[in-house]
Amino acid sequence: MADAWKEAMELAEKTARRAGEVVCAALQVERSVMTKSCSVDLVTQTDQQVEQLIIQSVRDKFPMHRFIGEESVAAGEPCVLSDEPTWIIDPIDGTTNFVHAFPFVAISIGFSVNKQMEFGVVFSCLEDKMYTARRGGGAFCNGERLQVSSQEDIQQAMVCTEFGSSRDPEVVEKIFCSLRAVLSIPTHGVRGAGTAAINMCLVASGCVEAYYEIGIHVWDIAAGALLVTEAGGVLMDVQGGPVDLMSRRVLAANSPALAERLLQEIHSFCPIRDDAA
Ligand code: IPD
Repeated sequence: MADAWKEAMELAEKTARRAGEVVCAALQVERSVMTKSCSVDLVTQTDQQVEQLIIQSVRDKFPMHRFIGEESVAAGEPCVLSDEPTWIIDPIDGTTNFVHAFPFVAISIGFSVNKQMEFGVVFSCLEDKMYTARRGGGAFCNGERLQVSSQEDIQQAMVCTEFGSSRDPEVVEKIFCSLRAVLSIPTHGVRGAGTAAINMCLVASGCVEAYYEIGIHVWDIAAGALLVTEAGGVLMDVQGGPVDLMSRRVLAANSPALAERLLQEIHSFCPIRDDAA
């Protein structure tokens, strides 16, 4: 049977590559940095320019499709996931990395229909790695099939997480409590690429066994979520149960057993949901 979203996925890949060229070029010149929710929540003109480029390219081909874009939401657009075909866009995942030229930044494009992710594209443009996943069709990096790690012993595992952009002392305390607990299991180590999308691709690639974060947004994880499940991994909420992409909480792991073990160490909290009115 023909793939109903083949053309859309090809467009996503093509547009992510074009966006990557813009991001790489912008790294060669000075970046003008602005702030959003707080002094460490950064945005640049390139984030805004790239989001417009992606939205315009999609609109030209699919005028009826909807969008949830990081910078459009910041500008006041609603963040609502309906049953309609919806493109969920993070023009630069890892904006702080981008500002500092720390070499991990990604263009993340997820596509959902009936609230189910159909495909995900994450382009790690400085590494020139194009990660793609199609629901039921597997996950790939530069055309090579991805498979999560088979390591189920948490003491042999490496885990990704991030500090996020909240500096609220209570939030920082919980993040550090979780970090101490995860390190002290003991695990082999804890890492963070500075981009949720790439962290999820690292789970999908089998380089790390798990990634968890509280405080991310739907555009950071929509595409990466499909990469993880299509590579054989699992997604959960940090308190257990199914993940809710709007809840700003995610645990991605190679297996249910390892995910359940990590859940015991995570000090959870509830940020304001992405779809809160
Ligand atoms: C951020 C990155 C970072 C994560 C933050 C995200 P942005 O996305 O994914 O790794 O810790 O929670 O907001 O702002 O660079 O698109």
